[in-house]
Amino acid sequence: MTKYIHGYKEKEQNRLIDQNRVLSKFIYEKIDLSQVKHLLEIGCGVGAQMNYVLNRYPKIHCTGLDIAQAQISKAESNLASSNINKERYSFLNDDILNESLSLEKFDGFLLVWVLEHIPNPINMLNAIREKAKKGAKIWITEVHHRRLHLYPEQSCIEKLWQKSIEYQKQIGGDANIGIRLGNLLHDAGFEHITIQPYNMFFDKTNQDQRMIMLNYWEELLESAVDTLLQNGITTSAEWSQAQREFKALKENENAVFCYSFVQGFATVGKDH
Ligand SMILES: C[S@@+](CC[C@H](N)C(=O)[O-])C[C@H]1O[C@@H](n2cnc3c(N)ncnc32)[C@H](O)[C@@H]1O
Repeated sequence: MTKYIHGYKEKEQNRLIDQNRVLSKFIYEKIDLSQVKHLLEIGCGVGAQMNYVLNRYPKIHCTGLDIAQAQISKAESNLASSNINKERYSFLNDDILNESLSLEKFDGFLLVWVLEHIPNPINMLNAIREKAKKGAKIWITEVHHRRLHLYPEQSCIEKLWQKSIEYQKQIGGDANIGIRLGNLLHDAGFEHITIQPYNMFFDKTNQDQRMIMLNYWEELLESAVDTLLQNGITTSAEWSQAQREFKALKENENAVFCYSFVQGFATVGKDH
């Protein structure tokens, strides 16, 4: 991962924790880790997913792997300040593509919002499938940013959203990777693949959740805008207009928030 659209600053690290408070109930609705003993979270970031998983599955052991030491350090302090027993988790500061890394002891792999930032996601999936033991399971959750639909349409938010998608592409990522998640798992040789788009749809019938999502999405866009501003791709005036549009949406009783992410679940099928 050469560049990361959201950056590694403390504000962004805290956003990853807040993000999971908002999204975990959707992410984990269809993920069942109850049979997993040793889970490896690849690209664990600051430990937001590990915290959720360790709390929800009291018998699981979770290892968090991340290429960035800054993320691991923050994850360590985040988990140390929780009430989770230290023996139930550990960390690895490494690249999943490191050939000497052994994955034999893990029976489950979790990836959340990681492949979108990687120039060659197939290499990462190949590395996991080649080194994991037969029968190990993988659960991947990924973005599909084209599937954001706000009603009424907001031209400035949409323009900025599109700019963030294009910038992510420019730095080697893919903010629409969800659409090809099944193809990637297939091409990497995984078996028993299931692909499920998860649709979040909130209108006046679910106003609390609609407000939570609009607030969260504004923060998400803001975290990309910092980078877009630094690279001359947007202006403060454009961002101010987008903020006014978010305010108008939040005040509009007929507003609708709609977004789909994509989940891919699969099994490692080959013998070693
Ligand atoms: C958007 S963060 C996701 C964090 C976490 N999964 C979450 O949902 O909060 C993506 C993480 O993947 C890590 N990463 C990227 N490439 C990696 C690689 N080749 N090996 C291990 N970690 C990697 C980054 O350092 C970053 O912390």
